[in-house]
Amino acid sequence: MDAIPPQPVLPDGRMLPASAPARARTARGRPVHLSGYDRERQDFYATPAWVTEALLRHVRLRGPVWEPCCGDGAMARVLAAHGHAVVSTDIADRGFGEAGVDFLQCATVPRGCRSIVTNPPYGDSGSHEGQSRSPVAMRGFLKHALMLTEQVEGQLALLVRLQWIAGRFVAEAMSAAPFSAVIVLTRRIRWFDLAERTNHAQHHHAWVVFDHAHPPGQPPALLYG
Ligand SMILES: C[S@@+](CC[C@H](N)C(=O)[O-])C[C@H]1O[C@@H](n2cnc3c(N)ncnc32)[C@H](O)[C@@H]1O
Repeated sequence: MDAIPPQPVLPDGRMLPASAPARARTARGRPVHLSGYDRERQDFYATPAWVTEALLRHVRLRGPVWEPCCGDGAMARVLAAHGHAVVSTDIADRGFGEAGVDFLQCATVPRGCRSIVTNPPYGDSGSHEGQSRSPVAMRGFLKHALMLTEQVEGQLALLVRLQWIAGRFVAEAMSAAPFSAVIVLTRRIRWFDLAERTNHAQHHHAWVVFDHAHPPGQPPALLYG
């Protein structure tokens, strides 16, 4: 098991205490990386705790974890409760973690981190609804996350719609990546909808897990959570 430094560090060198209360860690001054993100479209969904717990039942995460789209901390809190040091950032200020950090503009993981775990923005709108509208944005997110985790021979766990895995381009991208496991959630997620009106429990979801230390040639595990 890797040693866990007490204070993970953001790419610009600033230190963040792991899982400190939200407001205390929210950036007061200039954001770290700020893109032209449209603040009118920051709808998001907080992930129920059982979903992250299903991941942790199957996957042993190495080192401090980065939750780069932390929202209000729904996933980060569960990771911390299971003993992980967590760096929590988000492009928006949702009252948790470090605000103003555009994941897609980050060139490295926060210093010390070895894993990325998140429920990413599925489309340009940063919402679940957006996944069907813009699967391209999601693929860009995957590509960027794989590039960052490769630098630290790390792990990546993304919560996606099960259907997303079946796309041809995604299949190619996943096959070329160190794809180590898919954890299919047999229960449908009832989202805490904060912005959009959707059929809450309409889709099945899965964790897709990548591990740059996964032995080449070893097929990914199919697991159920
Ligand atoms: C679907 S929500 C998930 C929130 C949290 N991960 C959870 O599972 O509860 C997506 C989050 O991604 C954030 N986001 C969207 N684009 C981002 C970007 N480029 N960089 C960082 N965060 C982003 C949104 O602000 C939103 O909080």
